[in-house]
Amino acid sequence: MHSTQEKAPVALITGASSGIGLAAAQAFIRHGMHVAALARNWRSRDDPAIFQLTGDVRDADAMRAAVSETIQRFGRLDYVIANAGIGQRGSIADSPWEEIEAVMRTNIDGVLHTVRAGIPALRASGGGHIVIVSSIVYNLTAPYTATYSASKAFVSSLAQSLRLELEQDKITVTDLRIGRVATEFNKKRLGAAGYAAKAPRLPVMTPEFVAEAIVRACLKRQNRAVALRWLDRAVMLGNALMPRIIGRRALKQYKVD
Ligand SMILES: NC(=O)c1ccc[n+]([C@@H]2O[C@H](COP(=O)([O-])OP(=O)(O)OC[C@H]3O[C@@H](n4cnc5c(N)ncnc54)[C@H](OP(=O)(O)O)[C@@H]3O)[C@@H](O)[C@H]2O)c1
Repeated sequence: MHSTQEKAPVALITGASSGIGLAAAQAFIRHGMHVAALARNWRSRDDPAIFQLTGDVRDADAMRAAVSETIQRFGRLDYVIANAGIGQRGSIADSPWEEIEAVMRTNIDGVLHTVRAGIPALRASGGGHIVIVSSIVYNLTAPYTATYSASKAFVSSLAQSLRLELEQDKITVTDLRIGRVATEFNKKRLGAAGYAAKAPRLPVMTPEFVAEAIVRACLKRQNRAVALRWLDRAVMLGNALMPRIIGRRALKQYKVD
């Protein structure tokens, strides 16, 4: 908890109208920080503590505007949480291009626009922290869910390079590789209904649990890849050591006969 409003750090969170982003916004507030939160569609303005911004991460100008509005409101920026993301299932060959493009533009361009807009403001604050919300499927051999997995591979790779590029600016970067979380993500996932077969029966985390991990990553300046459960670490290790076996399993799981 921070003693004065003036000294409280300021976080900008994308994808904060639901799920992990909303829980993260509430967690930062609970920890006494200021929050600017961005999404395309807000359902309510019930929480006056959260400074709600309407915008689309796919739009670089909108992200620069979001950072400007945050600075106007709070005077500084300390933490950038690149969280907005969407899922998609379907074959690489036959999925509608619009779906594949939506995933790439949201999960890849959106993260790039978010961090590129945020970095000048973090530099102006004398440093700061970035959390990139990736997934344990970043290294999955992923038939019929390849676009999503590849988008997370992109951002996890980006995080490693970004960390070194930003060292001189005292900006640190967490690559948060999370497993299943109970949010609206699956319900909203794009893709032909036929391909959205049985979901993996792995235990789910609550968005609040992940939100606390995001706050912790910022406060402790965790400058590395972070996983939250042993189960998630085991899945990523399996993906890395047995890509063919895991890939065959995924093929059965996601393909409709
Ligand atoms: N849930 C899981 O099991 C899981 C596992 C691993 C990783 N993740 C990652 O966690 C992140 C958050 O997902 P979630 O589970 O919290 O899902 P969610 O409840 O569906 O939340 C996604 C958020 O992103 C926003 N969003 C989507 N497209 C956007 C755009 N173009 N511009 C701005 N905001 C946009 C949505 O709001 P609007 O639609 O109002 O814009 C919403 O607030 C994603 O990056 C996801 O890949 C989730």
